[in-house]
Amino acid sequence: MEDTNISEITSTEKEITRAANIIKTRKRCVALTGAGISVESGIPPFRSKGGLWEKYDPTVYASIDVFRKDPSKYWTIRGEFIRNYNNYQPNPGHLALMELETMGLLRCVITQNIDGLHAKSGSKDILEIHGSLREIYCVNCKRQYIAPDIPAGTPPYCESCGGVLKPNTVLFGESLPATALKRAQEESEECGVMLVIGTSANVFPAAALPEIAHRSGAVLVEINLENAFPQAEVYINEKSGIALPEIIRRIKDII
Ligand code: APR
Repeated sequence: MEDTNISEITSTEKEITRAANIIKTRKRCVALTGAGISVESGIPPFRSKGGLWEKYDPTVYASIDVFRKDPSKYWTIRGEFIRNYNNYQPNPGHLALMELETMGLLRCVITQNIDGLHAKSGSKDILEIHGSLREIYCVNCKRQYIAPDIPAGTPPYCESCGGVLKPNTVLFGESLPATALKRAQEESEECGVMLVIGTSANVFPAAALPEIAHRSGAVLVEINLENAFPQAEVYINEKSGIALPEIIRRIKDII
């Protein structure tokens, strides 16, 4: 973001400065991320422009009931990513959240994303409440595979027993990992600030977490290209890969 004189400071820059002050002064900041934070890493979102669900019906391609009858559907939309898993890299937005954690200003990242990019960025405390495409297992003998090392095929079958393989992700109709979800709800109840980044707030129970935080007295800071959470005190209408590093720069100016 180029330097501008005081009269040209945009509303976005004012909101970024407000966000930096809030993160610096209030305790217990957590982040909730959605597909938007990974768009700048070349991974399409689901519902916004170029989203996966514009091409594929999630009730067919991402439903556990359909998977049990025809696993090739889910593998059609996820096989390519898993086999190219190492080619996807975190962007400045992921790296900024890792830096906030290193600075002691971020307790954890609660993510709906299954792309593993928060882990790749070096973030330590990550709650993958929709699971991850990094781990794949045989539904029959439970043998574990790690992306990108899986057998060929759509779907791929287990090399030990011939059972069908399933990524360790939450499909529609499945429950979320109980431990991760319970911790995410606790962190949302106890936080002083929640950064809500790149999520359209369409899928529950993840979409309820900002409301839980807000009701518990936390300040919500939304970074998104649409204002999905009108109850957010601060709304930054900017790409997360630009806004998050800028917030860190402002925090360093304050320190
Ligand atoms: N920076 C910030 N926000 C962005 C960016 C960006 N560069 N690009 C897109 N966005 C925003 C969009 O405006 C939209 O609000 O990210 C959001 C993406 O919304 P969705 O595609 O609905 O993704 P998400 O909210 O994560 O979906 C939640 O739905 O299908 C399920 O399991 C899937 O975890 C997913 C869940």
